[in-house]
Amino acid sequence: MNNGMEAIPSNWHEQIINLLAERIVVTDREGIILYINQAYCEFLGTTVEEAINRPVQDVIENSRMHIVAKTGKKELASLHPINGSEMIANRYPLIVDGEIVGALGTVMFRSPEEWRMYQTKIQHLVEELKYYKTKVEKELKSKYYFQDLIGSSQSFLIAKKLAERISASNSSVLLIGESGTGKELFAHAIHNNSIRSSLPFVAINCASIPEHLLESELFGYEDGAFTGAKKGGKKGQFEIAHNGTLFLDEIGDMPVTMQSKLLRVLQEKEVQRVGGQRSIPVDVRIIAATHRDLEKMVEEGNFRRDLYYRLNVIKIEIPPLNKRKEDIRLISKSLLKKLERKFFRTGIEISSEVEQRLMEHSWPGNIRELENVLERAINVLDGQTIEIFHLPLYLREGQTSNGAIREAAEEKPVEKISPPILPLKEAVAQVEKEAILNALAKTNGNKQEAARLLEIGKTRFYEKCKLYHIK
Ligand SMILES: Nc1ncnc2c1ncn2[C@@H]1O[C@H](COP(=O)(O)OP(=O)(O)OP(=O)(O)O)[C@@H](O)[C@H]1O
Ligand SMILES: [Mg+2]
Repeated sequence: MNNGMEAIPSNWHEQIINLLAERIVVTDREGIILYINQAYCEFLGTTVEEAINRPVQDVIENSRMHIVAKTGKKELASLHPINGSEMIANRYPLIVDGEIVGALGTVMFRSPEEWRMYQTKIQHLVEELKYYKTKVEKELKSKYYFQDLIGSSQSFLIAKKLAERISASNSSVLLIGESGTGKELFAHAIHNNSIRSSLPFVAINCASIPEHLLESELFGYEDGAFTGAKKGGKKGQFEIAHNGTLFLDEIGDMPVTMQSKLLRVLQEKEVQRVGGQRSIPVDVRIIAATHRDLEKMVEEGNFRRDLYYRLNVIKIEIPPLNKRKEDIRLISKSLLKKLERKFFRTGIEISSEVEQRLMEHSWPGNIRELENVLERAINVLDGQTIEIFHLPLYLREGQTSNGAIREAAEEKPVEKISPPILPLKEAVAQVEKEAILNALAKTNGNKQEAARLLEIGKTRFYEKCKLYHIK
């Protein structure tokens, strides 16, 4: 049979083999060395002449080549201790014309260190990939437009139309709405619909930044402003947002001292970096958002009245989901489409019982809660249709604000819709996953808290999340 090898002069063979595998050994069926290359011999502290024709176990400490030559079973990436260190070896039976004639051994990595180095390099790439993936996802996410704001209820359309109409203006906007109603989406849509759309949109969450960092975060700092300050100083978000839009999320959580500083910047249209003297002019359009009752906070002295007036030039109130229940079906559909893309699925449907249950729920977490419920359902979904038993327990039981749903649930007991019988392993996995998702829902996604609730260690919790693809 001509397989092309004949074309290669036989005195090339050895070099080709040595290039393919740095360290290589070939034995016959009895484990007698027929060939071993120089690099391997150097590693073993012997010479080719000394090694050839000797039993492999006499030349290579802990060798298993003679065993592989007998059993015909290959051994891949096995740890092989030599000279007190461990290398990683591959051993293959050599089969010619259907018969085992010997064995071939190669050393993949001369030491676990070499292997680790290789691994670290890959690990590095994996980490980098992860970083860019989240970055891209985030960037894609921040491109929201008015057409992404789903809803056709009267109350929602009033808010949406108002936002659309005022996007071109430079006046401050105050977005008021419960948690998860879409304040951030509105802010994006307004910016993207304005003449500033190609300029920066900078979002800052006043609740999540430690109080002592908020000032330098907003206004930046000069070189040497404080210990640990970056050399050359740092731009603040106001400067970064210059000519664009600054989204001050959770403005109700801004400490009163910072409120005064913010007010000054809004009035003077210039910032002074922390530890600096010069004034830097800034032109930014402010969109502020909060789920708090700012008017009440003003009455109670927790929010500066003058700042409130300055932000409240255009006030947009986004209605909570339970005030626009007629939108639930439409929003669920659009969220499902989004989730299908995320999970590489198509054709997922919602059963009519589930649709009914979604209508009955009071949605304290609004659209974000609805999104979480659907994502959770897709995670545990085996077929194409989301059924009651794919919902989290608190929704299955039909707990609502008014209690009327309990009766509805009794009319149609959950047990009647019997879930399919699964292999025990899968069933246990489902229950486990559900417990984790429920715990995460309870802790608003805080994994440490969730692990504590479930009374398992953090490491195990993370392992389980990974196993069940819970992010
Ligand atoms: N009208 C809408 N149509 C479709 N999806 C929406 C709509 N409003 C909000 N969402 C989705 O709901 C989720 C929550 O929205 P967003 O983050 O804007 O809420 P929020 O009001 O800023 O909440 P929080 O006060 O908790 O920060 C997002 O994933 C968003 O995509
Ligand atoms: Mg928000």
